Amino acid sequence: MGIHIVQGDITRALADAIVNAANPTMLGGGGVDGAIHRAAGPELLAACKQVPLTERGRCPFGEARITAAGKLNARYVIHTAGPIYSQSEAPALVLASSYRNSMRLALENGCKSIAFPAISCGVYGYPLNEAAEIAVSVCLEDEFKSLEKTFYLFGEDIVQVWRQVLSQHR
Ligand code: APR
Repeated sequence: MGIHIVQGDITRALADAIVNAANPTMLGGGGVDGAIHRAAGPELLAACKQVPLTERGRCPFGEARITAAGKLNARYVIHTAGPIYSQSEAPALVLASSYRNSMRLALENGCKSIAFPAISCGVYGYPLNEAAEIAVSVCLEDEFKSLEKTFYLFGEDIVQVWRQVLSQHR
């Protein structure tokens, strides 16, 4: 299945799974995290609190957790904590793991389609070009070819970056 790019709000996505750019606490935040929780309603936070807490939080960096989607037009929300670019020892590996683990969880739960934001490209400060290269390369891995993938990106600049990177992979 292909990779699509949309300029728009991920809370409007029509996909089996919507990926949330969360943090290890899974207790909400700003950016995408805030938007998804607002659109999904309080039951999403309740579902997040059901996720077992480890010493590295509910969702350690690079990992992914799946919950119900509350009022969103999706079956699941997949929460992942991307790397904090300036603090991560291996940001590229952690970002790739966030994308990979999110798609593995989607496939394990019978999803046919998944919507991604630009993980770590906001508050977490990941440079757009490098992030786009990682996101597109992982999404093109054979393991995930059956998944319909759509990036919901905020802003013309980031859309251009993703389109340019995607065109280099075709
Ligand atoms: N739909 C799609 N994209 C969005 C939306 C939205 N509604 N809101 C913001 N974005 C974009 C941002 O413009 C950025 O390009 O999503 C990208 C990711 O930015 P952040 O939401 O800041 O996420 P991230 O950089 O991964 O930082 C995660 O921020 O909100 C907190 O709790 C979250 O601590 C975590 C941290």
